[in-house]
Amino acid sequence: MRLAIISLGGTSSELIAKEAKDFFEKVDLLDIRKIEIHAHLKKLEVIYEKKPIQEYDCIYIRGSFNYSLLQRSLAYILKNENTYIPFQPDTFTVAHDKFLTILSLQKNGVKVPTTYLAATMKAAKKLLEDIHFPIIMKVPSGTQGKGVMSADSLASARSMLDTLESLKQPVILQEYIETGATDVRVIVAGKKVIACMKRKGRAGEIRSNIHQGGVGIPYELDYQGENDAIRAARAVGADICGVDMLESAKGNMIIEVNLSPGLKGIMNATKKNVAKLVAEFLYKQTAEFKKGEKEKGVEEIMKIIKTKNEKENEKAVLTNLDIKAGKIRLPELMTKISGFREGEEVVLVAENGKVEVRRHDVK
Ligand SMILES: Nc1ncnc2c1ncn2[C@@H]1O[C@H](COP(=O)(O)OP(=O)(O)OP(=O)(O)O)[C@@H](O)[C@H]1O
Ligand SMILES: [Mg+2]
Repeated sequence: MRLAIISLGGTSSELIAKEAKDFFEKVDLLDIRKIEIHAHLKKLEVIYEKKPIQEYDCIYIRGSFNYSLLQRSLAYILKNENTYIPFQPDTFTVAHDKFLTILSLQKNGVKVPTTYLAATMKAAKKLLEDIHFPIIMKVPSGTQGKGVMSADSLASARSMLDTLESLKQPVILQEYIETGATDVRVIVAGKKVIACMKRKGRAGEIRSNIHQGGVGIPYELDYQGENDAIRAARAVGADICGVDMLESAKGNMIIEVNLSPGLKGIMNATKKNVAKLVAEFLYKQTAEFKKGEKEKGVEEIMKIIKTKNEKENEKAVLTNLDIKAGKIRLPELMTKISGFREGEEVVLVAENGKVEVRRHDVK
């Protein structure tokens, strides 16, 4: 199988490309800056170094928010039944904008800090009067901690808004979540967390980004934390990404999803070969996609299927597991077929990959 990594050619993309050579027959590292898209009367073309781009089984698109229109267009044109791309086209627009990310997370039942967007700076200043301090202000497309500020009073928030206005920058306002300048960076691949670290900001700093002097320490999330990160990735339509989480008294708050997470910091912190895990994930997903099992995990599917040795009065349903607060919830159809009643005494038997619910027949 053939893989293309389209990126700015940074260290992380290079590391993934190197590891991917152990899995894919061919690995090309393409420079996103050399790509052109041509829309003709009858065809759409992706041109790389003056020639139409080759065919690939997997295309992994990375790069910063500056390229979001190009990235989205690439996914739109190149994602088809022969090519696995681990993102939906829209994902690039949503995840590269912190406010759209918050909206999509919220809509999909993922906890987010209360976040505000106002139409004008004047309206934003008015809004400040009703908000509790301290607050966080963010530029929607900032990265590496640049464009994230905290204000502890109305006066300082107002003067920051004046500065942002003079720089013609849009701004979002966000509830400050007290975590002692610590956040959790989670790398999600499909339905799994493949690496996780805690980042602690340096003294006097609210931002925990490693680029702002923060330090990374290996961290193991509990079941709920892993589930929250995986749901956040799904909400924005990314099969692979970095999720930034704040652990607060009100639960895990997701603040951001990174489509092109830097791997050096997390590899140093966890001593895990995360680049290899990413490459392996891309390979396995592509193989599954090629087998025709594509995109199963992202949307909820429910269909009745036949199983081996199926008994006459048995029905099997293929679906995505619905787990809330660590509890498995089954589709209503299963309740109906089973004939169970509320409060009925049952025996639950679980093993790895299997759960059985059995009526407790007292003889
Ligand atoms: N609402 C908040 N409450 C408390 N701390 C916050 C909040 N939002 C952000 N922070 C701190 O600021 C850091 C940077 O914020 P955020 O992740 O939103 O932007 P970014 O890191 O600049 O973007 P990117 O991860 O794309 O580089 C976070 O890692 C966290 O430590
Ligand atoms: Mg971040």
